Amino acid sequence: MNMPLPPLNPIMLPSDLDSSGRTLGDEEVALVTEAIRSGCLFTIRGPYGKKLVAGFAEMLGVPNVVACTSGSAAIHAAIAAIDPEPGDEIITTSITDMGALTPILYQGAIPVFADVDASTGNVTATTIADRITDRTKAIVVTHLFGSPCDMTAIMTVADKRGIPVIEDCAQAFLAEHRGKKVGTFGKIGCFSLQQGKHITTGEGGLVTTADAALARRLTLFVNKAWGYGDPNPDHYFLSLNYRMSELQTACALGQLPKLPGVVAARQVSAARMDELLADTPGVEVPLRQAGDTHAYWKYPLRIDPAVIPGGPSALAKELKLVNIASVPRYIQKPSFRCEIFREQRTLGKSRWPFTLAHTDAVDYAAERFPGTFEYLDRVLVLPWNEKYTEDHLTYLASSIYAAATKLVG
Ligand SMILES: Cc1ncc(COP(=O)(O)O)c(C=O)c1O
Repeated sequence: MNMPLPPLNPIMLPSDLDSSGRTLGDEEVALVTEAIRSGCLFTIRGPYGKKLVAGFAEMLGVPNVVACTSGSAAIHAAIAAIDPEPGDEIITTSITDMGALTPILYQGAIPVFADVDASTGNVTATTIADRITDRTKAIVVTHLFGSPCDMTAIMTVADKRGIPVIEDCAQAFLAEHRGKKVGTFGKIGCFSLQQGKHITTGEGGLVTTADAALARRLTLFVNKAWGYGDPNPDHYFLSLNYRMSELQTACALGQLPKLPGVVAARQVSAARMDELLADTPGVEVPLRQAGDTHAYWKYPLRIDPAVIPGGPSALAKELKLVNIASVPRYIQKPSFRCEIFREQRTLGKSRWPFTLAHTDAVDYAAERFPGTFEYLDRVLVLPWNEKYTEDHLTYLASSIYAAATKLVG
């Protein structure tokens, strides 16, 4: 396909950091205004938090949703609900946000990193199975950039061993694996409403579960474990206040009906981008597994450094010249190479709970993570949002084509 030349004047792409790339509008203003006028911003008493969790439960088709202050809080509540003993192992992924990892340590458990598939960046049933021991208490999977993990295979491995799965859907609202929404396969699903997510309240989180006992523990955990509504309430166990205020839940309530349109718009523009980039040398568009739907939090390209000298970094440099931001390597290095894990920096100088870890659980040797290193060496993350028009897509694709062909020489 012949690429149209990029316009001489770079186009400003819509950004998720301001209204150009967000769906916040009059609906949210009206709801937040109503909440303020009501005089009650406390979610335990006000109506907005209750309407938000009921609305999200219906949209996802799950009986229980708990709102909380962030995606990190959602993961923290999920780990706490599983209630590991100190030193228990929780399998997670080497490519994710730190907010999905630190809660494991706060609950006294050991994050055990599974490798990822080099073509998607997602953990697989095989990489998870490779890390299971008799100390494994749970598995946390991240649906990276909105691309569903192979939950059929992962649930088979987990169910065989009776290990609960937590799905981190912070980047994957309404993504589907074989016709079923992510967040409904495992015991618990976790979502983030942070500024750059599909829908936002600036900060915020949602946790989902079909299990009534887990729902009770999740609710308690975000409420200082105070048994609101119980005949003889008490603070039942160690926990925190992770409640959203009614300002946030009212705003999220305005965002919620927009979510299906947001995801659909991202899918349509991603499909168009796939077409536009089809003939670009050394550039592979995001993989979509047959039967799955991708939620396109971002649009991660895979760059072949054997074709494009300098790989993702060289391409990113060229794109910057035409005002296109892109992120080579996403999180820069595998999570286990961050100081917190490398130096075991936790509580004071104690290194706890790493002091309880078995050697294999904290063996971060590069040869145990071939998929992780390959994925990070090749990925170039393009920002994505629901406001991209044909002009934006053409500009993006033609700029990528021009940069790639220039580098190929
Ligand atoms: C996969 C994943 N998990 C967890 C989080 C943490 O969410 P939050 O930033 O809302 O705490 C994020 C946020 O970027 C994320 O992308």
